[in-house]
Amino acid sequence: MTKRELIFEGNEKQVFSTDIPDQVIFRYKDVMVAYNNVKRARFAGKGALNNQISAILLNYLNENGVETHYIKTLGEKEQLCRMIEIIPLQVVVHNRIAGSLAYRLGVQEGFSHPNTVVDLRYNNDDLDDPLINRDHAVALGLASYQELDEMYNSARRANDLLKPLFHKAGIELVDMKIEFGRAADTGAIIISDEISPDTCRLWDEATGERLDKDRFRLDLSRVVESYSAVLERLNKVISK
Ligand code: TYD
Repeated sequence: MTKRELIFEGNEKQVFSTDIPDQVIFRYKDVMVAYNNVKRARFAGKGALNNQISAILLNYLNENGVETHYIKTLGEKEQLCRMIEIIPLQVVVHNRIAGSLAYRLGVQEGFSHPNTVVDLRYNNDDLDDPLINRDHAVALGLASYQELDEMYNSARRANDLLKPLFHKAGIELVDMKIEFGRAADTGAIIISDEISPDTCRLWDEATGERLDKDRFRLDLSRVVESYSAVLERLNKVISK
């Protein structure tokens, strides 16, 4: 398989075409951004860690019937993925109220609730990724109601699978952001972006310590060490 040209460059990843139809190479960069690109830094090793963590999580979902774009890992920072048509929406699943949701609802960060809360955001940097609802998404022509149902179902199933997986690793999956696309080969709605400490809130169950991008957002230091701990713990769980 040969890598061809760069077809997409984001802040934290690159996508290359290949000589295989409908397959692309996803390359994870060492750059980290937050607050809609206002805060930016480089962390050596972050790309390789997210490549491995995302591979474990996406592969686990594939094996358990939740379709994702992940095919296989190619190298330290690269994985082979299915090509998709981007849907500019973010489905955000919350198991505990944290971050901007705590502010929005006027509760303390860490507020515990019995139900799973799902939010929808319009992936649009110019608008600061605003919260929207299903009707807005359909009105803008971003997805159909049926596709939105599929995204919500897939996000909830992914959460139902990953929450216990992280729990086995002594980590609480507080929330996570999932992006979807339409698979170029079948048209199916599939998870089509990384799932990693960049896109989740992950709290150590024993100490409450944050093991995710909040370490960078909140200047808590030991960013790479925390991502590395997540990988090490997940590896132990999946190798059992
Ligand atoms: P959300 O509650 O939507 O926003 P905030 O990060 O402001 O609290 O975020 C929930 C999760 O989604 C959190 O783990 C961060 C992640 N997320 C992203 O990865 N990218 C984004 O653009 C946004 C808005 C959230």
